[in-house]
Amino acid sequence: MASNGTNRGQGFIPQEIIRRVRDGIALSEAEVRFFVEALHDERLSEGQVAAFAMAVFFRGLTRDECVALTLAMKESGTVLDWSSHDLPGPVVDKHSTGGVGDKVSLILAPMLAACGAVVPMISGRGLGHTGGTLDKLESIPGYDVRPSDERFGEVLKEVGCAVIGQTASLAPADKRFYAIRDVTATVESIPLITASILSKKLAAGLQRLVLDVKVGSGAFIPEPDRARDLAHSLVEVANGAGLPCSALLTDMDQVLGLTAGHANEVLESIDHLTGKHREPRLHEVTVALAAELLQHTGLAEDAEAARARAQQVLDDGSAAERFAAMVKALGGPADLLQRPEHHLPLGSVERPVCPTRRGYLAKMNVRAVGLSLLAMGGGRRRTEDAIDPGVGLSRMQSLGTELGPEAPLCVVHARDEAQAEACARALLQAIELSDEAPAPRPVLHGRVAADPMTRGPEGQRTQR
Ligand code: URA
Repeated sequence: MASNGTNRGQGFIPQEIIRRVRDGIALSEAEVRFFVEALHDERLSEGQVAAFAMAVFFRGLTRDECVALTLAMKESGTVLDWSSHDLPGPVVDKHSTGGVGDKVSLILAPMLAACGAVVPMISGRGLGHTGGTLDKLESIPGYDVRPSDERFGEVLKEVGCAVIGQTASLAPADKRFYAIRDVTATVESIPLITASILSKKLAAGLQRLVLDVKVGSGAFIPEPDRARDLAHSLVEVANGAGLPCSALLTDMDQVLGLTAGHANEVLESIDHLTGKHREPRLHEVTVALAAELLQHTGLAEDAEAARARAQQVLDDGSAAERFAAMVKALGGPADLLQRPEHHLPLGSVERPVCPTRRGYLAKMNVRAVGLSLLAMGGGRRRTEDAIDPGVGLSRMQSLGTELGPEAPLCVVHARDEAQAEACARALLQAIELSDEAPAPRPVLHGRVAADPMTRGPEGQRTQR
């Protein structure tokens, strides 16, 4: 390979790579690969990694650089290969950028399995004000989020879905990189988020991915334009790295569904699967994501058939059966669906949250709602913190509902009165009421699919 000034024969010079990014000069694939290898085996100091991250934060990366970064991070560890497992269907997954009350994974994975797909869903813990699927599953007694690779494969074959935690061997370079970004104010960079998310998904050996990119006050990236940029970046880089992928932009300007908090969300997911109650916005998002995967893996002929199939596996109970089978296979109670309240106890203090005046629910600061949960112990301040799965919110009303002194916003489940009182106060500060009913809001804000015509010219940097 021709020397470009960053290569001195024994490898590249890290500070020259950082300088090129800082000055907006595109890196070669070999330079990106060197950087990731040196990041992973700690030949690079934390300062060098941080400087690289900050340079990317301000300058962005081209799509080609981002694809190279994603692939290099994927290859820093184990890449799962399901080809010898004789699995019964296409291997698919969904990734959400996270929000409050987002329990879609718990419902979607068994729905897809019931439709004939195989879902090795490797999920994460809560970040900041958002809840993590892994933490929700850990509220189920006995559920093993870290099965051996062998057991993971067996459950996939038997049940068709297994939702488990990130293993240390998948994309380990991302682990070090993320930890440094987290303490250097460089998390919110679209190319770095893209490479971080996709390196782990690519390492899971998927054949197709759908992304749920949240938009609104409770989203990781709240601004609609930037959320759309993130969706485009994720879709183009995933496809560029060989993973067919599309994205839906979905609403996070209000809590998704009726609940937030770990045990509460598992209870709502069970009600949704069994048909006891299906909150319409949660239903719409889940069916739309299922339909994306079913249609584009050939499990359904077209969009209409895909939606019908998704609905059918909910209505005939087969999705609920898959969920129960997955929980049992991973060590959870065999009767979880028969006795959910027994296995998922909630905080003993229940308190309805009522505004002092009547009015329509016009606005919700969803981030503040998430933080009010975190303050009760339903989220983490530090990575090592334990979570209290029993605290949370239920019967959450949606935007446009009339509230008042006898018409609560939601019910708080807390450990004691003081906790419930503080949470109720924070929730009432997080909402705005109006005298007129606000216009109904859609839950689906758009779809992003790979389109070569929308790609920028070669060498064009993404927005940061
Ligand atoms: N989630 C990830 O896995 N990585 C990021 O960088 C941001 C969110």
